[in-house]
Amino acid sequence: MVFDLRAYMAQQAELINDWLERLLEDFAPRPVKLRDSMAYSLFAGGKRLRPILLLAAAEAVANQEVAKEQLLPAACALECLHTYSLIHDDLPAMDDDDWRRGKATNHKVFGEGMAVLAGDALLTLCFEILSQKLDGFAAEQVLRVIAEVARAAGGQGMVGGQAADILWEKERYQHEDPNRLLLYIHEHKTGALLVASVRAGAILAGAQPAQLAALTDYAYAIGLAFQITDDLLDIYGDSQKLGKQTGQDESRGKLTYPAIHGISESRRRVQELIRQAQVSLTPFGPEAEPLRALASFLAERDI
Ligand code: IPE
Ligand code: IPE
Ligand code: MG
Ligand code: MG
Ligand code: MG
Repeated sequence: MVFDLRAYMAQQAELINDWLERLLEDFAPRPVKLRDSMAYSLFAGGKRLRPILLLAAAEAVANQEVAKEQLLPAACALECLHTYSLIHDDLPAMDDDDWRRGKATNHKVFGEGMAVLAGDALLTLCFEILSQKLDGFAAEQVLRVIAEVARAAGGQGMVGGQAADILWEKERYQHEDPNRLLLYIHEHKTGALLVASVRAGAILAGAQPAQLAALTDYAYAIGLAFQITDDLLDIYGDSQKLGKQTGQDESRGKLTYPAIHGISESRRRVQELIRQAQVSLTPFGPEAEPLRALASFLAERDI
């Protein structure tokens, strides 16, 4: 039987959304306006790719008996972190975007101050959840996940990539090799969180070092493919379907894969990376089917 990824993603997203609501309730950010600003962006939609990857990676490994309920807080923590990155990415001081997830951007509705703070609170909430809600795992596993997510989020990870991205855009950041800078931006601003999501799921499921290495290769390849596709969709994607404005990168002078290599080479590179990701999964059996289907989806996505 062919794996039904659409149904799988919808089912996982429903669970993730339920848990996000529950967690937001539990940690009760105040004032209410701050809570509303966080909830506005969290529940605006979104593919839930990072939490879904975390759950799928755990499913692929499953060396340790872990119930999905135990993994969902960690999955949601990654989504909080990602949503914070989107709120800040859209701010006037960064990409200055008006639309996100099919709605007006957070700062358009709540003002810049509240958008900055909602992002700060979502980032912190990620680590509150990871440190308080991972029941039934060894302290060592939990600490390892926290350290990996922190590293992927900060100056050595996503924030570092975002900084390089805006330095290029706003100051024509001089770099001896734009190709290397582009790879740095993609690996960090986008790849790092995707790698951390997959690795967190694998670590919590008790992955052996060889399994963890194979899954890291998989996540690295889909991370690059994901951002090249994001850059391509900014050129030819349907803004209605994407829920965000298109045509922004070129007008802002962003350093993107298609800007350097052109559209057909970018498409070829995405296919190559996805093939590479599939090869990384060779040691796994049918339990890695969701990860395989997710990689194929990323090669063709229009959302
Ligand atoms: C958008 O991420 C930002 C990038 C890292 C390219 P997604 O395309 O996963 O956004 P949502 O979560 O579905 O809104
Ligand atoms: C953003 O990259 C990566 C993040 C860390 C949010 P982009 O700026 O290209 O993402 P979009 O296109 O606005 O979603
Ligand atoms: Mg950006
Ligand atoms: Mg942006
Ligand atoms: Mg983009």
